[in-house]
Amino acid sequence: MIFYFSGCGNSRFVAKGLADALGESLVFIPDAERSGSYEYSLAEGESVGFVFPIYSWRPPHLVSDFVSRLRVGGNATYVWVAVTCGDNAGMAEQVFRADLQKAGLQLDASFCFVMPNIYINMAGMGIDSKRVEQRKLARARKHLPEVAAAIASRSGGEGLLKGLFPRFKTNVIGKGFYRWVSDKPFFSTDDCISCGKCASVCPLHNITMENGRPHWNGNCTNCDACYHYCPKNAVQFGKKTRGKGQYHYPEQ
Ligand SMILES: Cc1cc2nc3c(=O)[nH]c(=O)nc-3n(C[C@H](O)[C@H](O)[C@H](O)COP(=O)(O)O)c2cc1C
Ligand code: SF4
Ligand code: SF4
Repeated sequence: MIFYFSGCGNSRFVAKGLADALGESLVFIPDAERSGSYEYSLAEGESVGFVFPIYSWRPPHLVSDFVSRLRVGGNATYVWVAVTCGDNAGMAEQVFRADLQKAGLQLDASFCFVMPNIYINMAGMGIDSKRVEQRKLARARKHLPEVAAAIASRSGGEGLLKGLFPRFKTNVIGKGFYRWVSDKPFFSTDDCISCGKCASVCPLHNITMENGRPHWNGNCTNCDACYHYCPKNAVQFGKKTRGKGQYHYPEQ
């Protein structure tokens, strides 16, 4: 059983690829949250996996919140996590271990996929160049069957890439990060063609179409799917996204 979250498709690619390779079922965390589904039963020998992007060197809040309410019945003999990040994950594994303890689960293995960056909401932060994007995608596609094999053999995993100053990034910047998370700066420019794509890709169903234009309703995790999937690049985040490019995982 694999619980996953993804805004722009990188983590969905990993979750679906691992589910296909391992014959595991998939649960999309925002859907489970919406329906209040926190109780699951494992089949004999089934592993428990989690796949999500790293947000400010921690698991996204909505993942931590979900996991702390999760109850898994049956014998969870192997628990693993695979994260995607643009560069590195800091001490996210330690934070996630503590989240799992609230669900009575203990982490056995962790895996890390460095994938194209999607975070563009701050000055100085942008998507990768095409060359870097292609290199990261090629590596991730090569890594996927290796991770599937490691999970199938119940290996101890590879650990997450911590990067420089991991404690400072996770415990200081990461802890304060959600104070800055808001959808208030989002707006659509006059390039908007009222297609509704931004609303349909929002994993939190936070966007409604009003008079042919998107309206953000205050329940946002800054996953940036609405920005990256817009066919006209008409979604902007204040002045922070001006001139920045778009990326989402291809093939979906
Ligand atoms: C709000 C936010 C915070 C992020 N913080 C980090 C980070 O701390 N470290 C990092 O390497 N990448 C960071 N990223 C980049 C994503 O982790 C990375 O692009 C991920 O693969 C996106 O996954 P998704 O396509 O499944 O949404 C961040 C992205 C977002 C949207
Ligand atoms: S995805 Fe872009 S073009 Fe389509 S409705 Fe949203 S802002 Fe407008
Ligand atoms: S409103 Fe946009 S950034 Fe916020 S959760 Fe929805 S898709 Fe993600």
